[in-house]
Amino acid sequence: MNFRTITILTGAGISAESGLGTFRDEGGLWSRYSLKEVATPEGFAADPHKVHGFYNARRANAAEALPNAAHHAIARLQEDPRHDTMVITQNVDRLHEAAGSRALHMHGELARALCAVCGHRWDAPAEMAPGDACPACATTATRPDVVWFGEMPYHLPEIDQRLARTDLFVAIGTSGQVHPAAGFVEEAWMHGAHCVEINLEPSEIAGLFHETVNGPASEAVPLWVDRLIG
Ligand code: APR
Repeated sequence: MNFRTITILTGAGISAESGLGTFRDEGGLWSRYSLKEVATPEGFAADPHKVHGFYNARRANAAEALPNAAHHAIARLQEDPRHDTMVITQNVDRLHEAAGSRALHMHGELARALCAVCGHRWDAPAEMAPGDACPACATTATRPDVVWFGEMPYHLPEIDQRLARTDLFVAIGTSGQVHPAAGFVEEAWMHGAHCVEINLEPSEIAGLFHETVNGPASEAVPLWVDRLIG
């Protein structure tokens, strides 16, 4: 099959072999931290110290991580002029960029800070704290530029348009439990895309894909890219 337009959605599983934990696997972040306390606007309002501490630790881990063979294979695909490949990631690390890819960060980025008052964004310092001032408006309502539960993910109009015209949709290393990303496969399928899941094991929504490939991303993704572009 000839897939000119390719859309790849990645989740925490693609960065697992780079040493960054996933959320819902055994021992994952949500078994060690309360999602409500550290990943909701209400949690931040209740205890900003705790929330900043959580993201400061994750920012430190992410800063040390290196892209793995899966990130590199996707970058190779994105460079291939025979295809138009868009990467949408739910991940807040910068491992796609470190491998040379461009990616839409629908859940924001650990490396960026956001002012909740004026909307200004800037490179986050290694450690953020309550009381940090916004460099643009000087108020102290600064926060990590990550999308919390109950907030609207970024880039949705662009993603919707893309899913309506993609020939191939590939979800890599995501459990398919968080919307709207979990619904992208149905959107792409409805518009005629061939849909592939690449995951360590079949996700709970594996049945929504035409094809599933199971295995660690660092092995399965390079093999899949080789099959596609040689
Ligand atoms: N290779 C491929 N897949 C893997 C690997 C690996 N080495 N290791 C784990 N996986 C798979 C797991 O089987 C699981 O299906 O990656 C998936 C990770 O799922 P989650 O932990 O739920 O992560 P994700 O789908 O990215 O979460 C979505 O939830 O908490 C929010 O905002 C957060 O962006 C995140 C969103």
